[in-house]
Amino acid sequence: RAEEAPPPAVVAAMASSLFNTLGIVVGAAVLVASIVNLAFPGFAVDAILAKNMIFFFGHVFINAAIYMAVIAVYEIVPEYTGKPWKTTRVFAIAWSVVLVFVMAVYPHHLLQDLPMPTWAMAMGQVVSYFSGIPLIAVTAFSLLVYLRQAKAMRWDLASALLVLGVAGWTIGSAPAILDGMIMVNKVMHNTQWVPGHFHIYLILGEVAMAFGFMAWLVRREGEALAGLNGAAFWVYLAGGAGFVLMFLVSGALSVPRRWAAHLPEWHLQAQIASAFAALVILGVSVFVLRYLARLGRG
Ligand code: HEM
Ligand code: HEM
Repeated sequence: RAEEAPPPAVVAAMASSLFNTLGIVVGAAVLVASIVNLAFPGFAVDAILAKNMIFFFGHVFINAAIYMAVIAVYEIVPEYTGKPWKTTRVFAIAWSVVLVFVMAVYPHHLLQDLPMPTWAMAMGQVVSYFSGIPLIAVTAFSLLVYLRQAKAMRWDLASALLVLGVAGWTIGSAPAILDGMIMVNKVMHNTQWVPGHFHIYLILGEVAMAFGFMAWLVRREGEALAGLNGAAFWVYLAGGAGFVLMFLVSGALSVPRRWAAHLPEWHLQAQIASAFAALVILGVSVFVLRYLARLGRG
């Protein structure tokens, strides 16, 4: 029953700690095996097994980072809406499902590795849909309901960044799930679409939530989303949205990622993206300086 259930922060922290511990153990194991292989080349490490272990660790770890950031939303947003975030049955089911899916989905990183078994590829694609949709849908939908029901929602830098974090997380699932489809990945793998996918999650999702938490720590009574605070928020949002969009546009134009050479034909997108990135840096500078100045004043 909802009244007896642990708070959402506990459910989320427990699920994240469980899968993150497993991920770190697998990551540590492949690291040790690689070091032993360096020292004693006779001790061979199966390359595809090592790649599986590395991506299992990496995928689980970065997802745990965003899932833990969401806890700030569950705990802080109720202070603004006046309604506690409840652990409903659907909420508990979504987190239990994610606990399993976040570990089963990592083969979507290996869709171009021919030695991988077909069932693993199919699992990577199918679980991509499922691991993206339920938790994000439950969190985003609940947030909308809480915001609608709020008697007097107060918008300040903290609440705006936390809501932006959930919006960025939700929107980011679309290019992620698209690239998790084998047919799409054949074309989009190693293009700028991939940094497009994860910078949405990171800049507009996880990092926005972290800055929201920082802003909440140094909040002032009755402060609104106006003046320098408001300007910094909108500059960060406009810069972040433009920057990630340019990654996606470049990806759709098949510009590769991680190449040493960047051909002149690709410079225009990079220059536009750099202007947007400058806005992100401007917004972040205000967030950080405001935080440090207020911490200093106590
Ligand atoms: C619905 C959940 C997610 C799906 C379906 C998904 C899908 C994908 C896919 C298919 C790739 C491989 C792209 C390629 O190499 O062709 C990828 C890469 C990546 N994803 Fe996600 N992802 C999800 C969640 C996340 C989250 C939450 C983050 C970070 C906050 C993230 C960060 C990354 C990063 C950093 C890479 C690049 C890995 C590399 O360098 O090869 N992903 N994702
Ligand atoms: C204004 C802010 C940012 C700018 C201008 C920026 C720019 C870039 C660029 C140009 C790349 C290389 C893309 C390519 O492969 O062609 C990249 C990769 C990456 N970025 Fe960012 N980024 C920013 C913020 C962030 C943040 C906040 C995070 C994490 C929290 C992040 C995580 C990553 C990761 C994991 C990679 C992949 C590195 C790799 O390929 O090994 N970035 N970024």
